[in-house]
Amino acid sequence: MKSKFRTRDFKEKKLRGEKIAMLTAYDANMAHLLDRAGVDAILVGDSVGMVVLGFENTVPVTLDAMVHHTAAVSRGTERALIVADMPFLTYQTTAADAVRNAGRLMQEGGAEAVKVEGGSAIVDVVKRLVDVGIPVMGHLGLPPQSVHQVGGFLRQATTPHDADILLADALALEEAGVFAIVLEAIPGDVARTVTTALAIPTIGIGAGKDCSGQVLVLHDMLDIYPGRKARFVKNFLAGASGVQDAIRRYVEAVKSGAFPAPEHSF
Ligand code: KIV
Repeated sequence: MKSKFRTRDFKEKKLRGEKIAMLTAYDANMAHLLDRAGVDAILVGDSVGMVVLGFENTVPVTLDAMVHHTAAVSRGTERALIVADMPFLTYQTTAADAVRNAGRLMQEGGAEAVKVEGGSAIVDVVKRLVDVGIPVMGHLGLPPQSVHQVGGFLRQATTPHDADILLADALALEEAGVFAIVLEAIPGDVARTVTTALAIPTIGIGAGKDCSGQVLVLHDMLDIYPGRKARFVKNFLAGASGVQDAIRRYVEAVKSGAFPAPEHSF
């Protein structure tokens, strides 16, 4: 087995110009397939609410559900870094709530890092998490937990003003200590500017080819989710010999820079 992928490997990969391949998983069996295929990091996304539990968005996902799925993923994973999403309102209230709730994801779920959505508004919470020894991944651009405020799953940072705010948020998160930032549904040139401005890596989902790595929702890239499909998603099961082969093809395509292609970008 290759050595365990750690948060520090994110930055080292960016320095070496090597792309980071990340995918979501929610159970032990799929986590094992991702791990075997060489995925660097597994995101136990709160997208579990949509692609596994049948909700319309991620808002109803509870901390108990995330702990349950994170623990399952931990049991199936040896090498990949396990990042667990902190669900809606488990970190936006107080820093003390955030520490307690992230602690459950790590102690009961076996998460090795947590992911939170938002920029300047949550910087104090991020600092507190990092200060107590919890690795944090940021998430900017489309914030799925704020779907009701945003008014849908819409592209973000499409004006120069909004792109400037996104860059300021990214710099604030880096300063607060996050080890990487997911950039979701933003124009490729904005993602490139942010990626160049940061020392830490960016992980794109619908953010073009110039991010330091890519992430997709597993059920989207296998085309087994009947809901709406975003333009940036590619079906890797088409043409593959099975699920394991599809995941391997995704990892190769990310690492070689073949994915995302222009048709998967804005
Ligand atoms: O929950 C999730 O799967 C995510 C990805 C969309 C990055 O946050």
